[in-house]
Amino acid sequence: MRLAETPCENPRFFAHGIKQMPARIIDGKAIAQQIRDDLAARIAAVREGLGRSPHLAIAIVGDDPASHVYVRNKLRTAEDSGMGVTLETLPGDSTLDETLAVVERFNMSAQIDGILVQSPLPAGMGRNAAQRVFDTIDPGKDVDGFSPISAGHLSQKRSGFAPCTPAGIIEMLDRERLAIEGARAVVIGRSDIVGKPMAMLLMHRNATVTVCHSRTRDLPGVAREADILVAAIGRAGLVTQDFVKPGAVVIDVGMNRVTDADEARQLLASQPKRLKLFERRGSVLVGDVHPNVAETAGALTPVPGGVGPLTIAMLMANTVRAAELRLSG
Ligand code: GUN
Repeated sequence: MRLAETPCENPRFFAHGIKQMPARIIDGKAIAQQIRDDLAARIAAVREGLGRSPHLAIAIVGDDPASHVYVRNKLRTAEDSGMGVTLETLPGDSTLDETLAVVERFNMSAQIDGILVQSPLPAGMGRNAAQRVFDTIDPGKDVDGFSPISAGHLSQKRSGFAPCTPAGIIEMLDRERLAIEGARAVVIGRSDIVGKPMAMLLMHRNATVTVCHSRTRDLPGVAREADILVAAIGRAGLVTQDFVKPGAVVIDVGMNRVTDADEARQLLASQPKRLKLFERRGSVLVGDVHPNVAETAGALTPVPGGVGPLTIAMLMANTVRAAELRLSG
């Protein structure tokens, strides 16, 4: 039995005159750990069947420090989950052909189940470089779900790899028993890797979905229609309380590095510990959702510790699935 938890099903959210309770803060780290725990038996079965663990290969080009941190986290999580990893680091002045050669080598290897080429690629590789890389990854190993084959399969609701962040958000809504069916969902952002696949996955689960973007008229008004609001636009604190229907579920996909002191003070007024962190380090990561949305939303994912860990957990899940598909022939 599903619990009645969406704003449209739970009368608590519509009890006018009753003081709004602060949002439930969704613990993405705990859910990611559950997902990984659930993978353990499947990883053992692959090891039994293939004689080796599921194996993730990552290529990174250049020395962007943030990208290297993300890649380290992915590799560490894979290793901690008992999976095999390969890392190929290419210098920042590598050509697109050199990068594609690495992808082809990964494609050919019978020891590799999942392939990920970390974005962004160096600007010097040209505007279409990332697309060329995604076009080259074997769709059977496309654990990022960024290839046009994967995108097509998702759009036609066929079996394939869905991009990890939106897939992780669906998994999180399910595990938190926040019903999707029949809900009004608004996705702010129309990127190929979050906004569009998010809309598709929500639609496949029978939500009524609206996709907003930089040219949307009356963005706060449209967002306020949402029972489930997903912010994936890359603007620190853009989603303020006037975007949010009381009791709505708000999912914050943003990861914005703020270095301006006034902006940090405005965004973190209710989070003195994080403001102290900013003062020590000179920068802080904040989401697309203003923290004071916690006073209006029914449930909210924090940044950090919300969607981020789920993305990595779903990368593990996709890699295990790729290995299982290899096992079943
Ligand atoms: N850069 C930031 N996030 C991602 C991701 O999920 N996959 C890849 N390939 N690059 C990224």
